[in-house]
Amino acid sequence: MSSRLFSFFPIFSGPRFQGWRVGVCLLACLGMGGCNPYSEIRSELSPADQMRFDRGLRSATPCWSCHDLTGDAIKVGPPLLGLFGQQAGFVKGFPYSRAMMASRVVWQSGTLDRFLSDPQGLIPQNRMLSAPLADPQQRSDLIFFLQRVSGQAPGH
Ligand code: HEC
Repeated sequence: MSSRLFSFFPIFSGPRFQGWRVGVCLLACLGMGGCNPYSEIRSELSPADQMRFDRGLRSATPCWSCHDLTGDAIKVGPPLLGLFGQQAGFVKGFPYSRAMMASRVVWQSGTLDRFLSDPQGLIPQNRMLSAPLADPQQRSDLIFFLQRVSGQAPGH
């Protein structure tokens, strides 16, 4: 291409040419597995588990609207960082329902599976207004994903 054509696009021309930076960033991104924020966790998994992780990631999409799954931000729901091994209602400062606080459920894959298949069945009158996940495979993939991105509380 001629330099006249390049000069139509200010980013490719002139003293402030920054194209190489864009290139370096793109390469870094590709090297990290296409900018997936979980690429480090993912890269440790077998190919079959990577597929499972990706399915779980997709199933977790609706959870994000109410929960911070990997940090400690309080949204409509409590943050789920360090969830596994915790007793229900573990986030200080979150206004849980009485039902959740009194339930004494400990979050493990088994209890989560029951909760996600029927939130009101495991903890009647809790305030999580999320549709039950009827598909056992989808629940299991989602829990697999959460185990890896939300993880365990220290000491569990
Ligand atoms: C519409 C908002 C909403 C959505 C969507 C939602 N949740 Fe919740 N979730 C809540 C609220 C609110 C609570 C607290 C309920 C209470 O105190 O009774 C909660 C509580 C929880 C708890 C208990 C946490 C604790 O601190 O003990 C878990 C686990 C949980 N949600 C997982 C999920 C998962 C996984 C998804 C996605 C499938 C999801 N939630 C989707 C609002 C939501």
